Order: sequence, then C-alpha cells, then structure tokens
Amino acid sequence: MPQLTRSPAWQALAAHRGALASATIRDLFAHDVDRARRFCVEAAGLCFDYSKHRLTDETLRLLVALAEQADVGGWTRRMFAGEAINSSEGRAVLHVALRAGAGPFPAGGDVMPEVSGTLARMRAFADAVRSGDWRGATGELISDVVNIGIGGSDLGPRMVTRALRAYCAPRPRLHFVSNADPADLAAVLAALDPAHTLFIVTSKTFTTAETLSNAERARAWNRDALGERAAARHFVAVSANVPAATAFGISADAVFPMWDWVGGRYSLWSAVGLPIVLAVGFERFAEFLAGARAMDEHFREAPAHRNIPILMGLLGVWYTNFWGAQSHCVLPYAEDLRDLPAYLQQLEMESNGKRIDRDGNPVDYATAPVIWGAAGTNSQHSFHQLLHQGTLLVPSDFVLFRRGAEPAAAHAMLTANGLAQSAALMAGKDDPAAPHRALPGNQPSSTFLLPALDPRALGALIAAYEHKVFAQGVVWNINSFDQWGVEHGKVLARNLLPRILQGGEAHELDASTRALLARLRAG
Ligand code: F6P
Repeated sequence: MPQLTRSPAWQALAAHRGALASATIRDLFAHDVDRARRFCVEAAGLCFDYSKHRLTDETLRLLVALAEQADVGGWTRRMFAGEAINSSEGRAVLHVALRAGAGPFPAGGDVMPEVSGTLARMRAFADAVRSGDWRGATGELISDVVNIGIGGSDLGPRMVTRALRAYCAPRPRLHFVSNADPADLAAVLAALDPAHTLFIVTSKTFTTAETLSNAERARAWNRDALGERAAARHFVAVSANVPAATAFGISADAVFPMWDWVGGRYSLWSAVGLPIVLAVGFERFAEFLAGARAMDEHFREAPAHRNIPILMGLLGVWYTNFWGAQSHCVLPYAEDLRDLPAYLQQLEMESNGKRIDRDGNPVDYATAPVIWGAAGTNSQHSFHQLLHQGTLLVPSDFVLFRRGAEPAAAHAMLTANGLAQSAALMAGKDDPAAPHRALPGNQPSSTFLLPALDPRALGALIAAYEHKVFAQGVVWNINSFDQWGVEHGKVLARNLLPRILQGGEAHELDASTRALLARLRAG
C-alpha cells in the first residue's frame, strides 16, 4: 500500500484545499497587494511568475512540506552524485553531466572526459561541414542535413533547431524525419539532392524499428544516386550501440557516442544535439549548455520555496492531486517555439506516466497529466474557448519574451495577446444579463518571462522543465527514468507484423484485434 496519501503533508494539503475552495484567484489578489512581487522568482536569466494560482502563503508552506517529506533535496543530491536512481534499469541519471562544463563529475566516477571528448568531436565535425572541409562523395558542399530518429532522438533537436532559427546559418539546412510512414522521409527528400545531403542516424539503442527502416530507405536513395561507397561521406550515427551502427554500414569512427546514463528524452545535450550544433554552430550550443547549467545550479542550491523547478512541480501536484486537473497546457508566444508542447509531451508523459511506485505498489493518486498546447496566438483561435468557458480546470504555462527577433510592433502584439489571455483566464468577465458572454475566470497559469528566444534562455527553460518532472516523480514516489509501457508496444508491433504480411492464426491476440486483422486481410 502506498503511504503518500495517508502522510501528514498530504492530509494537510487535502484539508487546506477544502478551506481554499471558495476563494478565487481574483479574491486572493484583492486581499494581498504584494502578491505579484512575492510569487515571482528570477533565476538563471528566467523570470517565473506564479502569482495567478489558487495559492496562498499557507499553500506554499504546505507544498514545500510535501517536497521535504518526499526528500526532493536528498534525491537531487543522489541524482547529481551519479547514484543508480533509475532503479528498474539499474542506471545512473546523469544528463546534468552533459552540461556540467568541468569535472570531475560526478564525485563517484568521473564521466567528464567522455563528455568533453564527445563535445570536441561534435565541434570538429560541425565545423568541417559548415566550413566545407567535409564534403559529399562527389566533392559537393553539404547543403542539407537530415536527422533520422524518433522520440528523444528527434523531438529535442527538432524543437531547439526550430526555436533557434534566428541563429541558424543559411547552410546546412536541417530536416527531421521520424515517422515510420515513408511519406515523412519522402516529403523531405523530394526537395534534396543526394550529392549535397548528409544523414545523421540517431538512435541510442540502434534497434528502433522506425529509425532503422527510414535509415535503410535513406541509404537506398543515396546508393541509387551515388553508388555503394558514397555512404561514408553521407552517413554518421549517434548511438550507444556501436556494433549495430557498424553492422548497418556506418564506420565506428563516424558514430558519436551516447551512454546508458542518459535517457533518450533527456539527451538533447549530448551528441543527439549534433543537428543543433550543425545549425547554429558550437559557440551557440555552448551557450545553450551554459543556460541549462545555470538552471542546474539554481535547482541544487535554491530553497524549495524560491526554486523554479520545484515550484513548477509542486504546482502541478497541487492541481493534479488536490483539484482533479487532468491536463496541463503549454503556450509559447513565439512561432519558433511551436514544438515545445510536443517536446514536453514526451519529457513529462513518458517520464511520469506511471502507476506503480518505487516500492512496487499501485499508486492510489494521479500522476502525470496530459500535456498539450500550441504556439500563441494560433492557440487562441483554436482551443482557448474551452479554457475560458469550458468546464475543465486546465492550468497553463505562458512563455513570453522581453525582446523578440521580429519587429517591435509585432513583438508587442504577441506579448499583449499573451498577457491578455493569462489575465482573462484568471479574472474572467461578469455579464449577469448575458450569461453566455460571461467568463468564470479562476483558471490558473504561470508566466515565464525570458529575455529573448536565445540559446542561453532556452537551455535554462528546458532544464527547468526537466527538473520539474524529476521533482514531481520524487513526490509521486515513481521512477521517472524508465518507459516499460512503450517497450511493450514495440514488442507487440514486432509480433503483429508477420501476421499482416504473411497471414496465419493469431490465437494470442484479443478478439477485437483478430477481427480487425481479418477485415484487413479481406481487403
Ligand atoms: O519512445 C520510446 C523510446 O524508447 C524513447 O524513450 C526514445 O527516446 C525513443 O524510443 C527512441 O529510442 P532510440 O534512441 O533508442 O531509437
């Protein structure tokens, strides 16, 4: 039996939630003139405003007590010390080492020589491609780079490369292919020239079916145009499985390493970030790592009530477990950050979408909510209606910027819209004469204010979300670093494939799936 819901800290929050039930956020502001100043933290270049929440000083005190009861501080020390906190796989969780800058790190087994050596290789390779020292098999410049990978081997570099578009060199252009559907690769290759195209096959395991089938298709495309021997100038890999990459035909010295102490969804700081380095150059990538490092330092050192990731995590627990919220919306007010919600879906839902606690017990409380969202202002003309007048409680994160790459007037318009939305969600609008026009308000939101959509601020923002997920996993007493549910789906698909291709009985399958298979075969 899990103890969490019977613990003193949990019970105190449950009682407090009852006491707060009738107070709106608007009321809380009316009785607390200093609220906007107090419920705001600046760290690592980011400003995190959490004043528009169903929260008082007492709520904060009780949430911090929950974090202390769960020993978030102790687990943080264990993670940074390189302990095998991914217990179901017996692995350390050391993505923080990838941006640590200098070693030795961690204290119990220095990984920094491997980290720095890999960063040096990434830099040398990216410099060579960008300068033209690395060319295709026929001597042509590399104009386009296609990253083939999925999940953590796709979403991070895809999101960051797009987010840092303003910093991208004109060459090489970056493309991302992930879907097992050949249409994904075909749509990208349609506009490319094999002589000018480099592929990065990114797969930690190098066993992922989607990635391997796309890589095979890419190799056939390259071979058909340039011949068998051209691959050496047009394919590199990022993987922890060098034998599998070499068996595919990529020489060992063209494989950039990954390690079992980095989870796929935490890996964009590693060689998985090679597309980012190719796009923006190593100096910018180093700034990106430095931004994350600054957030790591803040996370390790700041007390819980002034700690951005811990506050983010506790607010999520507050709404998920005490107010029944089942989703969390992310609204970046920058088109270039439009892929952030998709990236966070994997980070949060693959990490904390769990139902068995670290002690092997089924949980009797909710864990990760559904993460969703879109770039504002598009989101306003799509689903904000539900946020304003629907029946669901949906906490949101607004991401705004002090400066924009776009002209000042356009940036002001974006900012005005973001601020207007968070204000309206909180305050609502009374209209006794026309209830269909009234907005109840009291929808909570946090607002991140970043100096600009630059590498440093982006690194800090992503690291804040990573540590938020970690803090929540600690409170929920779950292992945030495995993904056995996903693994099961891969096995099932592998077993089903021959049934679709060759037919045959499938007695082990459920009746519904057997019937669907029969209908498929019937044409
Ligand atoms: O989606 C499951 C998963 O295992 C993710 O955790 C991972 O990021 C993705 O597949 C890709 O895995 P790989 O890098 O090994 O191809």
